[in-house]
Amino acid sequence: MAKQDIQFTAYLSQSLEVLSRGGALLVSTGKNGRPNVMTIGWGTVGWIWGKPIFCVLVRPSRYTHECLEATPEFTVNIPPRSLAGAVAYCGKVSGRDEDKFAAQNLTATPGRRVAPPVVEECVIHYECRVVEKNSVIQQTLSAEIDRSAYRSGDYHTLYFGEIVAVYADADALTKLA
Ligand SMILES: Cc1cc2nc3c(=O)[nH]c(=O)nc-3n(C[C@H](O)[C@H](O)[C@H](O)COP(=O)(O)O)c2cc1C
Repeated sequence: MAKQDIQFTAYLSQSLEVLSRGGALLVSTGKNGRPNVMTIGWGTVGWIWGKPIFCVLVRPSRYTHECLEATPEFTVNIPPRSLAGAVAYCGKVSGRDEDKFAAQNLTATPGRRVAPPVVEECVIHYECRVVEKNSVIQQTLSAEIDRSAYRSGDYHTLYFGEIVAVYADADALTKLA
């Protein structure tokens, strides 16, 4: 059944729970035009500049960072529980070394409004265009967070993506349970 357009707030609590539980899948497009998928655990959704925004945090060492600099658009895909293995894999292997879509039998379905595809096997999809980015700055960061999250530097870039499309499987909530 075709995935249905939904309001960006529709499954927000469920999406945030998946982010904190095992991670969601962020898809970007490299200079070579090929999609790359990486697991994210940190992100936030809200209302800024009169727009719905999905903010993701990506460390400069990630191949995804290079992709977002090349093509400032991304999709965030909320996986069902059955995809836990693929989510773990995409959180430890780099797209510099492997095509993770192929390695995990994930299907890249063209985005409706952005260049990067969505992960078909996921159940909720946010398509985003970057409208602002900035870096975590050590000088203004709490010392406690600096110690816990940045022992090796690699301070995240925050990418603020305007959410331009959101859609979900009709049985998304059942698959997340
Ligand atoms: C549960 C989980 C959550 C993660 N969250 C993030 C994140 O929010 N930001 C980030 O930069 N890396 C995060 N990572 C690490 C990347 O997913 C990992 O380094 C990945 O291999 C990078 O892929 P890439 O080089 O293809 O971009 C997370 C990893 C896991 C397992």
